[in-house]
Amino acid sequence: MLSFDDYAAGAATEGGAAKKEGSVLDFTPAAQPSVPHSISMAPSLPASGPAPQAPVSNSSVSAPATQSVPPPSAQRVPTSGQPQLAGNGSGPGVTGVEKIAFNSGRINVDDKRIINCRADLNQLVPFKYEWAWQKYLDGCANHWMPQEISMSRDIALWKDPNGLTDDERMIIKRNLGFFSTADSLVANNLVLAIYRHITNPECRQYLLRQAFEEAVHTHAYQYVVESLGLNEGEIFNMYREVPSIHAKDVFELQFTQELSNPDFVTGTEATDRRFLRNLIGYYIIMEGLFFYVGFVQMLSFGRQNKMTGASEQFQYIMRDESMHLNFGVDLINQIKIENPHLWTAEFEKEIIELVDQGVQLEYQYAMDTMPRGVLGLNVEMFSEYLRFIANRRLRQIGIPEQYPGAKNPFPWMSEMIDLKKEKNFFETRVIDYQTGGALAWD
Ligand SMILES: [Fe+2]
Ligand SMILES: [Fe+2]
Repeated sequence: MLSFDDYAAGAATEGGAAKKEGSVLDFTPAAQPSVPHSISMAPSLPASGPAPQAPVSNSSVSAPATQSVPPPSAQRVPTSGQPQLAGNGSGPGVTGVEKIAFNSGRINVDDKRIINCRADLNQLVPFKYEWAWQKYLDGCANHWMPQEISMSRDIALWKDPNGLTDDERMIIKRNLGFFSTADSLVANNLVLAIYRHITNPECRQYLLRQAFEEAVHTHAYQYVVESLGLNEGEIFNMYREVPSIHAKDVFELQFTQELSNPDFVTGTEATDRRFLRNLIGYYIIMEGLFFYVGFVQMLSFGRQNKMTGASEQFQYIMRDESMHLNFGVDLINQIKIENPHLWTAEFEKEIIELVDQGVQLEYQYAMDTMPRGVLGLNVEMFSEYLRFIANRRLRQIGIPEQYPGAKNPFPWMSEMIDLKKEKNFFETRVIDYQTGGALAWD
């Protein structure tokens, strides 16, 4: 059995001491999922294509040379009845609710995989993907709650008839409108679509942390809406009523609908690609593109000493989202390392087109929230910015930049992402907030 010293010494890597461990759990599937048949799948793409590129920029992704890469089978066919041994790299993975076979051997760290893994999902350790565990720890260290931030100055400004222009008020309301339902869509995608198909416990641990953070974000928007006395029906229905918000959410929901179908299982080239497509749709496009016009706009208020409470809420949210994005990048790149046959030239083309649709949709959103220049911002700047961050997102998952020469018109954004919780940027923190203080023992 591995000790914690073994883990610290790097035993939980390919070729490490984990190999001395018995490896196999006997999973007897009570009801093995069948081959997906009732959802529309992209045609199976050829397994050939350019050699997969090593992931870039996210340093915590293990180097390809140290990874155990399953053979790029030309076609992986889902099994339909027989139990499979851990780590054989074929067929759909387990979900964690399979029968616990008594005394059937211990987990071998080498058998762990992000998707289609048949090793035990209920044992967090031994760790294989330290980057996922570290992000879980970092997320916990960044814990915050919306009530920590005073909204009193915002309330006074909002209620002052001359406090803000109509254009400024529209930006605030439309961003609350978009984000208040967008974070629910992200959370639903995590728990209803992604979670079941991620067959690795340390990644699931992070997903659980992320899901809570999405709940905190939805709470923050509700808190701002309530504090300012806004019409909650107007704000929370904008995803049904404002065309650019509706279009972004319809674009995202297609990914959730596909994977949350009970008949959807990974384990074929086609479905594994659809799973990757969902990860890219949410981590790269939703959290990596669709949030950024709103982040720039809301943080611009704080930079002008207006709506400093709302702006600080968004600053904390952006810090969390930056980590969600980085986790997604690591996740996608690790799946790519372990399943290089999935990343064909045709798949890459499909992703480039999806990202481009995302850029167009977000540009529409910029125009819808800001028809006229305000706060020193205008839609042309957002056009440039979106192409700049789209280049960056593509590069992060190993795809060449598609928008030559795009520059960042908002270099100050990177400072905002580096927010330390101790630093009260806009000096809005309330000091009487406490956690766990509501329970009286006497
Ligand atoms: Fe969020
Ligand atoms: Fe997020």
